[in-house]
Amino acid sequence: MVDRIGVVGYGYWGSKHVRVLGGLPDVAVTVIDSNADRLAEAGRVHPGAEVECDLESALPDLDAVVIAAPPRAHCGLSLLAIEAGKGVLVEKPLAMTVPDAELMVERAAGKGVCLMVGHTFEYNAAVWKLKEIVDSGELGRILYIDTARLDLGRYQRDCNVIWDLAPHDISIISYLLGEMPTRTEVWAQGHVGRDLADVAYVQMTFERSDVQSYSHVSWLDPRKVRRITVVGERKMAVYNDLSDNERIRVYDIGVDVPDPDDVHALPVSYRNGDIVSPYVQFTEPLAVQDAHFVNCLRSGRRPDTPGERGLDVVRVLASTDKAPEALTVSVRRGMKTVS
Ligand SMILES: NC(=O)c1ccc[n+]([C@@H]2O[C@H](COP(=O)([O-])OP(=O)(O)OC[C@H]3O[C@@H](n4cnc5c(N)ncnc54)[C@H](O)[C@@H]3O)[C@@H](O)[C@H]2O)c1
Repeated sequence: MVDRIGVVGYGYWGSKHVRVLGGLPDVAVTVIDSNADRLAEAGRVHPGAEVECDLESALPDLDAVVIAAPPRAHCGLSLLAIEAGKGVLVEKPLAMTVPDAELMVERAAGKGVCLMVGHTFEYNAAVWKLKEIVDSGELGRILYIDTARLDLGRYQRDCNVIWDLAPHDISIISYLLGEMPTRTEVWAQGHVGRDLADVAYVQMTFERSDVQSYSHVSWLDPRKVRRITVVGERKMAVYNDLSDNERIRVYDIGVDVPDPDDVHALPVSYRNGDIVSPYVQFTEPLAVQDAHFVNCLRSGRRPDTPGERGLDVVRVLASTDKAPEALTVSVRRGMKTVS
């Protein structure tokens, strides 16, 4: 049996969904985009795909829907699909407000349909390997996690850089530690246009693990950086998503504090050892994620990243907003408890 999946939004990311879904066995794709030029492009690149200009008219012929439209449209489009009884995979962030995300989760549960969020990095073999390393205890007690997600662009129109890029870091760090943060602190500023923050630092507190994380996200940086650094008491690990063959490196280095009674000792001593890069088989994470979605639809299995996981991340994102209007405030420094 062939499942027909509608991909809403044939932009930068939606076009990748169309490519990977089109490569899955027994899946047919309908491309839905309200922009006629984007639809024409989809028809040219994927001559076998059906095209439609709005979700409502496409819905009767669809078995499921992938939402890859801008974040502000996620809630309304998802509710349309859920009401029609279709399973939905929604790109990150699940929604732009906590009440919207809660409504999506509640309606999907009420209708008994699959709601999954596209936290792509939770389908990434390098992130799985990093978690394996953290869980094995090889790094020792985790002291802190630092992340950098920087580039020149892609500026978004309807959300700031935190809502655009930090969902990845919140998802990765909380996945690694197995818990959600309870507190966030934010420094953010808009430098270009000045109405939306384009550079931000988000600090998160993970109480149970007693770990602080520091995430730098930016649309205004000369270099593309995608880096996660996990610093443990014994070793440190760095995951560089841009590396072809050494995406993870484990550094056998560290700092020891000498005997406090030794008045002649240096403040710390340094340990230096091997740097090891474990083999990580590359499989395109988006392809793994979309295949998992189709598998969940067919088997009735609960997705590894269900709507509730998306809601958890939206709660953290919302805590970085000092006030609802903060998305349009250019300079702010806020400290919030995640509730
Ligand atoms: N998981 C990832 O790594 C990743 C990477 C990039 C983007 N994304 C997410 O993907 C989503 C799309 O981002 P993008 O960069 O591709 O945006 P984009 O602006 O490039 O594309 C959005 C497309 O949606 C269409 N659209 C807008 N409203 C619509 C509607 N109501 N009905 C039908 N079509 C509509 C637009 O015409 C456009 O073609 C966002 O949620 C973004 O956060 C995820």
